[in-house]
Amino acid sequence: MSNVLVTGGAGFIGSHMTYALLDRGDEVTVLDNLATGVRSLVAQQADFIEGDVADAGLVRDILRGRKIDAVIHFAGSVVVPESVADPLKYYGNNTAATRDLLEACIAERIGRFVFSSTAAVYGMPDETIVTEETPTAPINPYGRSKLMTEWMLRDIAKAHPFRFVALRYFNVAGADPAGRTGQSTPRATHLIKRACQAALGRAPALDIFGTDFSTPDGTGVRDYIHISDLIAAHLKALDALANGAESDVYNCGYGRGLSVREIVQAVERVAGIKVPTREGPRRPGDPAMLVADSGKLKRTLGWTPQHGDIDEIVKSAFEWERRLA
Ligand code: UFG
Repeated sequence: MSNVLVTGGAGFIGSHMTYALLDRGDEVTVLDNLATGVRSLVAQQADFIEGDVADAGLVRDILRGRKIDAVIHFAGSVVVPESVADPLKYYGNNTAATRDLLEACIAERIGRFVFSSTAAVYGMPDETIVTEETPTAPINPYGRSKLMTEWMLRDIAKAHPFRFVALRYFNVAGADPAGRTGQSTPRATHLIKRACQAALGRAPALDIFGTDFSTPDGTGVRDYIHISDLIAAHLKALDALANGAESDVYNCGYGRGLSVREIVQAVERVAGIKVPTREGPRRPGDPAMLVADSGKLKRTLGWTPQHGDIDEIVKSAFEWERRLA
């Protein structure tokens, strides 16, 4: 059993993480400033503290007072276009705040840290299947703010008795199969959520951003990963660190790409409702295709994805969306 601090535990991914840790018997403290998190998504059995990861005094009190063994750091801002419009918010909430959190962790001798990174660190890669060796070249402040954090982690791991795993998420989707939590951000921009909203008549139509990409059907291709498999990767990372694993970076995806049109078809199959669509121009900064080579995660951490079927992913997202009413 471990004592884990989950920052951003009232958010989409953090709330799933909290349930998964509690389900296996770990103790969880959630630290979230509720800027975008939702208090009701935090599992009852977790200790919830409303506060900021940059509040070094508060964080040190938590780490010491609760005898925290490991930190999983989700808290941050995640909307790419917003990062372009307000870069200082991203360098503040993601890079600078994480620096402060890390300083508190080092001061309190926290040796294990799991970090939410993103495929956005790769920018618009030449390779369509991206490995961890693919050069990082983020094209927006969001990706840069996360990559800078990866750099800090590498430097800290060389200077202190501190080890980390950074997980580079591809397109995270779906919801807890037990229906306890899901994607609740009202202005979420993600495709599967938007397509479910359109199917439910909560949006007039789903905009298809670009139909002239060099992909089989002309629409953008992404690697959609079920939240449950993503969370399983975090548990593997945490256990590997506990067993002495070296610091490292891993892609989180399945290695399979699906187009926007294939997602629309999946939503229609699952919902039994036609999704109204509207074809429009490309969204600025969107690569044609972004698919993970996740061989390293499987080989090194023994990750075995179990929920890759797109209909299963969409079904859990749709069920959650329907209940949000
Ligand atoms: N799309 C539409 N219509 C929509 C929303 C999205 O056609 O209403 C398309 C996009 O153009 C893209 C695909 O659906 O081709 C997926 O778009 P998302 O917005 O769901 O996700 P992104 O691939 O843009 O972004 C994801 C994460 C980011 C991360 C990025 C890395 O959400 O946090 O991958 O490239 F930075």
